[in-house]
Amino acid sequence: MAAISIDGRLVAGTVIDTVKSAAGTLELDAGFKPGLAVIIVGNDPASHAYVGAKSRMAKECGFESVQHTLPEATSQDELMRLVEDLNQDEKIHGILVQLPLPKHLRADPIIQSIRPEKDVDGLHVVNAGKVATGDLDGGLISCTPAGAMVFVRRAHGDDLSGLNAVVMGRSNLFGKPMSALLLAANATVTTAHSRTKDLPAICRNADILVAAVGRPEMVKADWVKPGATIIDVGVNRIPAPERGEGKSRLVGDVAFGECARVAGVITPVPGGVGPMTIAMLMANTVIAAYRKSGRSAPNL
Ligand SMILES: NC(=O)c1ccc[n+]([C@@H]2O[C@H](COP(=O)([O-])OP(=O)(O)OC[C@H]3O[C@@H](n4cnc5c(N)ncnc54)[C@H](OP(=O)(O)O)[C@@H]3O)[C@@H](O)[C@H]2O)c1
Repeated sequence: MAAISIDGRLVAGTVIDTVKSAAGTLELDAGFKPGLAVIIVGNDPASHAYVGAKSRMAKECGFESVQHTLPEATSQDELMRLVEDLNQDEKIHGILVQLPLPKHLRADPIIQSIRPEKDVDGLHVVNAGKVATGDLDGGLISCTPAGAMVFVRRAHGDDLSGLNAVVMGRSNLFGKPMSALLLAANATVTTAHSRTKDLPAICRNADILVAAVGRPEMVKADWVKPGATIIDVGVNRIPAPERGEGKSRLVGDVAFGECARVAGVITPVPGGVGPMTIAMLMANTVIAAYRKSGRSAPNL
């Protein structure tokens, strides 16, 4: 039997609806809108497309949306000063610095200079530390793992007791927080990486298999336990000559067609985890704004 393919756009739409109504309630009750500031440095077209989508979505959610577009030649000090200004700005509840930054800039000191309560990307060590220690209510959770967990909860509920989860990838951006979130939900978690021995055998043990490696269609059908839930985080652009000369298309880290015949639930690429990332960014911004007003954050 073929797996159920999760429509990430649909699920993201339900999160966005909740965010919109939470933002509207906050404005009525507290008299201000959630404020999101997005900073982009340089001319990378993909980054500009992502930032444009985030700013548009913030407006659609009823937020105060501010975009700072800085030239490629921006210095570390200039960028630090802008973050500091936004840290002090009462109207701004969320600050996002689009990565990657141009090569002459060091991303980590910039990210760590964002006040943790405004770090809506969830990359500050304080927020990463809260996730690592299982404190999921006090900080802000990194958007892509938070979005992936929405899919996991839809398939398995809140309590993953007795289930084996395998996360392929151990990045700070995704693999590590994802493993911590699965562990906090009582799954038995294996975090695999490039030095893991016999990865297919480890994956075959997974009731929940999360792929975040960045290798096109690496996971094959015979790596998948029958009935497993597969969350495909990878985004890879590959040549698509069948669409015309020079054309390309996006694929995930999972060979979707063959794995869908074995899995129980699977997320597609595109249209799976991707739309959830931006929805969770909006959710984090509304949560940060509620906390700033002294109200308890809505359940998103
Ligand atoms: N919004 C979204 O949809 C979204 C958000 C974030 C990321 N992504 C995508 O997710 C993928 C991963 O992102 P990332 O930032 O976590 O990437 P990353 O920092 O490059 O990390 C990749 C991880 O994969 C592991 N790996 C590499 N080759 C492997 C192999 N042959 N077998 C097993 N593990 C291997 C690496 O292991 P080592 O640590 O040993 O090197 C590393 O831990 C990318 O395709 C990215 O575009 C999507």
